[in-house]
Amino acid sequence: MDRFIINGGTKLVGTIEVKGAKNAALKAFAVALLSKEPVRIRNVPEVEDIKRMCEILKNLGAEIEHVKDGEYLVKAVKLTNYIINPDIAKKLRASIVLTAPLLARLGKVKFPHPGGCIIGERPIDVFIDGYKKLGAIISQKEDLYEISVSNKLKGAKFIFPNISVTGTESLVMAASLAEGETILKNCACEPEVESLIEFLNSCGAKISGAGTHIIKIKGVKTLKGGTYTIIPDRIETGSFAIMAASTTSILKITKCNPGHLECLWVIFEKMGIKLEYGKGWVKILPPKKIVSVSIKTREYPGFPTDLQAPFSVLLTQAEGLAMVHETIYEGRLNWTDELKRMGANVLNLDPHRIQINGPAKLRSREVESPDLRAGMAYIIAALCAKGESIINNIYQIDRGYEKIEERLQKIGADIKRI
Ligand code: EPU
Repeated sequence: MDRFIINGGTKLVGTIEVKGAKNAALKAFAVALLSKEPVRIRNVPEVEDIKRMCEILKNLGAEIEHVKDGEYLVKAVKLTNYIINPDIAKKLRASIVLTAPLLARLGKVKFPHPGGCIIGERPIDVFIDGYKKLGAIISQKEDLYEISVSNKLKGAKFIFPNISVTGTESLVMAASLAEGETILKNCACEPEVESLIEFLNSCGAKISGAGTHIIKIKGVKTLKGGTYTIIPDRIETGSFAIMAASTTSILKITKCNPGHLECLWVIFEKMGIKLEYGKGWVKILPPKKIVSVSIKTREYPGFPTDLQAPFSVLLTQAEGLAMVHETIYEGRLNWTDELKRMGANVLNLDPHRIQINGPAKLRSREVESPDLRAGMAYIIAALCAKGESIINNIYQIDRGYEKIEERLQKIGADIKRI
């Protein structure tokens, strides 16, 4: 098992490039299954979750050509299997979005409860209820769900009880090939959802309302192929910005879209962290003293839950008392137990809220990465701590950050993989 060895306490310097958004790229592979024509996907991050997604697609009968680094060509002329490989799906929450193309094209799909990061209960009721509204029948045998439709999915009205990113993406995809009109309310507005809809429309889908809470879809018979260029990863951008601020380093982040992180920049301003930005780049200019600011995670355009862990590390380096309120997932603050052992002054109030009193001198330590974003938080904490830290279970980090150690070495981080 690979692990990272990090010697902290040094400043970062220079420029770092952002890769394509993992959470957009994973769904692009599902979109590619909706069409019988080839779909080229560009700016794909070369991460473990993408490899797992490709394995599932091949198992369903799609042909995948890895054209070059970051570029894939998917041909799904014929789908030969309607079972999403349970062993892989249990590792990958995003596998749930494959239910949409399989239902739309084959009229049936079998899958297990999807896995992924252990950050909370992560139910799938909105998918089940949504597909039922579109006319599907659901059954569950042993560990597998089966969803089927007698003829074609039929347009319907559906209100999401909770805002769900993958739920919105799945129902939009399924409704694109359904008969008639579908109206979805309380949809997710994340840039990854908006980008997916723009691509679907370029393939001939008729969808309006992308980036808003109400989306209307007029079903079409077939979709064409095309080229889908993945948007920059806003979570990676935010993680690097937070890393720079936590280590009081001046860092330029390029190939990103600063407009997708307005909420973080407003908080940075309140903390006294200066930034310069332009089209496709942002430069972080942290002061010596950073002021603490409380945050509450929210759906887009609010503070992203995926940045909660890295941001909490920043709060350990800021002056004053701040509250972190994680509203999306009930298990996403558990990682802070190790942060406390690194010397952070963290008080757990309940499963959704912690208080952080800073600044604290973090101590190096051996930790275990429980999930992707907590793994990034430990990297940042280890870069702040003097001495050698070890991060185990870095498969979790490799799931979403491409060759992270090589990219961090280039900006002066003392990190190696062993
Ligand atoms: N929810 C339900 N029922 C459902 C689905 C979701 O109650 O059927 C609840 C969840 O329990 C949670 C909330 O709705 O409280 C939001 O969950 P959502 O469905 O939006 O999460 P997701 O679509 O599974 C995506 C990202 C996550 C990111 C969240 C929130 C992908 C593959 N994953 O998850 O990314 O945290 O949206 O923005 O797109 C990550 O990349 O580290 C990650 C966990």
